[in-house]
Amino acid sequence: MTLRLVLVGFGNVARRFVELLPGLAPRFLDESGFECRVVGIATRRHGCVLASERLDPVAAAAHVAAGGALSDLDGTRACGDVFSLIDVAAREAPQGALVVVETTTLDVVSGEPAVSHVRAGLAAGAHVITANKGPVACAYHALRAEALRAGRCFFFEGAVLDGIPVFNLVRETLPAVEITSFRGIVNSTTHHILTQMESGRTFDEALVDMQRAGIAEADPSLDVEGWDAAAKVAALSNVLLGGRLTPRAVERQGIVGVSRERVLDARDRGLRLRLVASGWKEDGLVRGRVALEELSATDPLAHLGPEGNALALETDLAGGILIEERLGGLTQTAYALVSDLVAVARRTSAER
Ligand SMILES: NC(=O)c1ccc[n+]([C@@H]2O[C@H](COP(=O)([O-])OP(=O)(O)OC[C@H]3O[C@@H](n4cnc5c(N)ncnc54)[C@H](OP(=O)(O)O)[C@@H]3O)[C@@H](O)[C@H]2O)c1
Repeated sequence: MTLRLVLVGFGNVARRFVELLPGLAPRFLDESGFECRVVGIATRRHGCVLASERLDPVAAAAHVAAGGALSDLDGTRACGDVFSLIDVAAREAPQGALVVVETTTLDVVSGEPAVSHVRAGLAAGAHVITANKGPVACAYHALRAEALRAGRCFFFEGAVLDGIPVFNLVRETLPAVEITSFRGIVNSTTHHILTQMESGRTFDEALVDMQRAGIAEADPSLDVEGWDAAAKVAALSNVLLGGRLTPRAVERQGIVGVSRERVLDARDRGLRLRLVASGWKEDGLVRGRVALEELSATDPLAHLGPEGNALALETDLAGGILIEERLGGLTQTAYALVSDLVAVARRTSAER
């Protein structure tokens, strides 16, 4: 089986994803019986192209990273916009063989343009995988219903904790379990800043580290004002707790204005100042919060290293589960797309 990929968004995450594909091709074939090839790429400023012959996505990644336009590339034809590109690619693909890989910029309030891209992909008969938390934070239930109606997959493992299984873990390995609450450290940029301030560095120095690594959001106020974490709380609440939250409905605090003195004062009292994301059920409703908390040494979240993320789930039948990502980064986010792609391939071949 050959899956055809349309990349909607071709920034840090999508480019790392395509760089991983050549090395993974033998594993895809041996372990899951599929091949994949990129047939289209859509961006905001670098153009939208479909493959007319062979499109080399790794060369395209290098070209775009250097500021080039996609239409300069051999073997491509220009294609108006994202929506026409998805439609043409869907018409040209065998049924069920197209996968839209959505990695556009996060808009935390509306989830757009990603929500419309997911919707367009499903309506065209494509499976959709995304590392953008917007769709699952802002429109999860509607998109899930559209995917079910279309008989296509909508997977979003990269929305929380990069490629470490959270949604896949629950979907594949915790049947019949009710998750009652969660609590975690889920934003790498703010966690890095708080831990670096404990070592005497400034807020701005630590933020620059994360911008250089391509980990901070394109607009870093999304991280430091707690919006990214609020979007993750909404996503986790919607999927794991059956809630109907949006990022705006999540009680939210960021780390803007937190001084080094405050961080060090907590440390001197044996505590760790951390930005904690949580969700729980209360009086028949699902609620979510992002807040600065002083964690005691007995709290498992207090021991997380500066590069990590962690999520603790409380369940009715499986007890407490702690999921920890030791080292998050672009490769791990790109791996989330890889794991979603393999999940699509396995689901597709199981249905044949
Ligand atoms: N970076 C991380 O570590 C990380 C981790 C987890 C999740 N994520 C999520 O993954 C997504 C991508 O992150 P990134 O770091 O790759 O972002 P990025 O480098 O800023 O790239 C975003 C891409 O989306 C394209 N784009 C934006 N609006 C578009 C539109 N309306 N139509 C078509 N293309 C559009 C941009 O096009 P141009 O290049 O032409 O501007 C660019 O190619 C975000 O939603 C982010 O929240 C990122």
